[in-house]
Amino acid sequence: MKKLLDMLTEEMQSAFEAAGYDKTLGRVTISNRPDLCEYQCNGAMAGAKQYKKAPIMIANEVADKLKDSKVFGDVQAVTPGFLNLKITESFLTEYIKGMRGDAKFGLDMPERPKKVMVDYGGANVAKPLHVGHIRSAVIGESIKRIYRYAGHEAIGDVHLGDWGLQMGLVITGVQDRQPDLVYFDESFEGEYPKEAPFTISELEEIYPAASAKSKEDPQYKARAMEATFKLQSGVRGYRALWKHILDVSVTDLKKNYGSLNVEFDLWKGESDVHDLIPDMVKYMKEEGYAYISDGALVVDVKEETDTKEVPPCMILKSDGASLYNTTDLATIMERMKLYAPDELIYLTDKRQDLYFDQVFRCARKTKLVTEDTKLLWIGFGTMNGKDGKPFKTRDGGVMRLENLISETREEMYRKILEGRDMPEEEAKQVADMVAISALKYGDLSNQASKDYVFDIERFTSFEGDTGPYILYTIVRIKSILAKYVEQGGKVAEAALKEAVNDSEKALMMQLAQFNAMMQAACDEAAPHKICAYIYDLANAFNHFYHETKILTEEDEEKKAGWIALLALTRDILETCIDVLGFSAPERM
Ligand code: ARG
Repeated sequence: MKKLLDMLTEEMQSAFEAAGYDKTLGRVTISNRPDLCEYQCNGAMAGAKQYKKAPIMIANEVADKLKDSKVFGDVQAVTPGFLNLKITESFLTEYIKGMRGDAKFGLDMPERPKKVMVDYGGANVAKPLHVGHIRSAVIGESIKRIYRYAGHEAIGDVHLGDWGLQMGLVITGVQDRQPDLVYFDESFEGEYPKEAPFTISELEEIYPAASAKSKEDPQYKARAMEATFKLQSGVRGYRALWKHILDVSVTDLKKNYGSLNVEFDLWKGESDVHDLIPDMVKYMKEEGYAYISDGALVVDVKEETDTKEVPPCMILKSDGASLYNTTDLATIMERMKLYAPDELIYLTDKRQDLYFDQVFRCARKTKLVTEDTKLLWIGFGTMNGKDGKPFKTRDGGVMRLENLISETREEMYRKILEGRDMPEEEAKQVADMVAISALKYGDLSNQASKDYVFDIERFTSFEGDTGPYILYTIVRIKSILAKYVEQGGKVAEAALKEAVNDSEKALMMQLAQFNAMMQAACDEAAPHKICAYIYDLANAFNHFYHETKILTEEDEEKKAGWIALLALTRDILETCIDVLGFSAPERM
């Protein structure tokens, strides 16, 4: 379906043309003075210079051409030359009917769908997820869903940190605790045990201890590097032990991401491209892109227009070891080969700014991607505590994501039980759902690049710009619809009618923005636009609801019209929260 504002603009453009003016002056926007009008056009102001005429004269002539418009019911030319507009009820109602009959509520599907890969999550094997991981997971999941909803193919990849020194450290830590494990016996030729020799909680103790020790003890670090080398060169026992580390860790990660409704299509990692590195390096050397500088292999990526220093992209260290860059570049190569995506999107902390600049430039320069492959890096800000510093536990430590989720669930459970008569089991389930909405909405409603303050009180409130408020609104609509059905009504058969009051019309106008909003959220990879939209929509609905006695209305047609409007509002709200990555309970 065409976007409503485009249709209004077309109508206005014809009026400018009919009055003898350049039609491009007829752009219509949503009114920034809703007390005066619904939409506005400032084209007469812009045209004044061009036509050497007072803007109000142009505005009057254009208004005159719109006297019999079926689109604009009220057109006022006001000094100095604005056109204040109201849309007709009939035009708006037809538009809303069209939305209701469309599977995507009026959002057109792309002529040529894109294939997009979203690299998000940022998890590292053997390290627990902490609060720093929430943003990548939550924003990335939503962007993936937005693309899908908008008709594109989106593939999510967690791109695990599962290679390099961190793995050597874990292996060394395991060896210290259990030196007799068969994995360390290089003469062993039999089959390795199926059971991992550690649990996830042991793993999570091993890594930080080993990492701390390697910083103090150079000999220990040398052992860890040796273990890394053995792992990477394929020593059987090391590979088998590493596989256990990976499996135990991934099982735990899946559980944690799962509790946030975050799902990846691919659980690939840095290790997956290990074998591609030699060929990539060879290619970069042969084509003359890479050269040796101070012993390391690098590719220059600076550009003439740079205002800051962009150092070369390092491909191999002087000891021949690969780096974070190397695996990322090899992953780009692999993704292009296996999936041929049109677009690659990465989500990381905004401190990786320069890093991604280098990697993208290097990928382009060395032609690992095609000329029109889009590379998009989305750097997000920090989740802070109320003190404005990165969020910490009460005793100043790094908060595990798991604990953040459970604390939010508990807080929500307490609030749900307050003043509600609900069986304990149901209250728990509802609290879990609402808690996820609180966390995710609290994050997604901020523009990704900005820092935000995690405020559990505010996020879990049923009032204001919060996830629970949105869910509460959805549940309220569901309950009215359920009562209508109890009264014998049929929601699917209810026919929309023209608005009878301002709050109803305002709700319709807000609904009509859906396709334009979703398109913008996709084009700009911006979930916060969806949050802003549903907050306004929920407000518009609640305003209407407080002014209208729906279920006791005696005029059945009128009642049915409202029910149809409610059903559409519910559908759009639920579609939006699904795209944001959470869902609403039946009651709360
Ligand atoms: N594991 C990385 C980290 O902890 C984040 C990975 C982001 N994705 C990427 N392709 N580099 O910083």
